[in-house]
Amino acid sequence: MLKIAKVLVSAEDIESKLAEMGAAITEDYRGKDLLMIGVLKGAFMVMADLARHVRLPIEFDFMAVSSYGAATKTSGVVRILKDLDRQIEGRHVLIIEDIIDSGLTLDYLIRNLGARNPASLKLAALLIKDGMQQVPIDVTYTGFTIPNEFVVGYGLDNVERLRNLPYVAVLEEHLGAEM
Ligand code: IMP
Ligand code: MG
Repeated sequence: MLKIAKVLVSAEDIESKLAEMGAAITEDYRGKDLLMIGVLKGAFMVMADLARHVRLPIEFDFMAVSSYGAATKTSGVVRILKDLDRQIEGRHVLIIEDIIDSGLTLDYLIRNLGARNPASLKLAALLIKDGMQQVPIDVTYTGFTIPNEFVVGYGLDNVERLRNLPYVAVLEEHLGAEM
């Protein structure tokens, strides 16, 4: 179980894409006070590696939300498990996500954070599942568009495992109750 069927995005491809995204963010936010908000737990790896390519004095904060429980299909119900440490009013906020599937988690987050009056609110995501969004999501910095498969690695888990794989992969079978 938890056997990898194929590597979808290699560590090398992730690294060079994050370098590109980081360069674009550096240009766009020059002279602005950038606050990166990572969506835990999945975004921890992309946040750390992307930020290393941004040549600006970034501030970091994290939110933890849950939309899945232990299942592998989105419920559309978002719970805030950990809120931000500080207020974001007047700040230039960039949300960092690992993957956009239904988009329901981000739709909720964007509305929740938008209501706190940031100076700007944009989104960076490493992966987007092609054609799976149930709500339109405006992603300013995108890594890779992938087919509708359940993926693990590089922050993404199957029931809390495999987040530490340095690449993004598809499993032969994945664990977790389908809803
Ligand atoms: P959404 O609300 O359906 O867009 O799902 C958002 C969250 O579900 C992501 O931040 C991930 O934590 C999780 N997720 C979505 N697709 C996958 C996947 O293929 N593998 C692992 N986690 C996923
Ligand atoms: Mg997850």
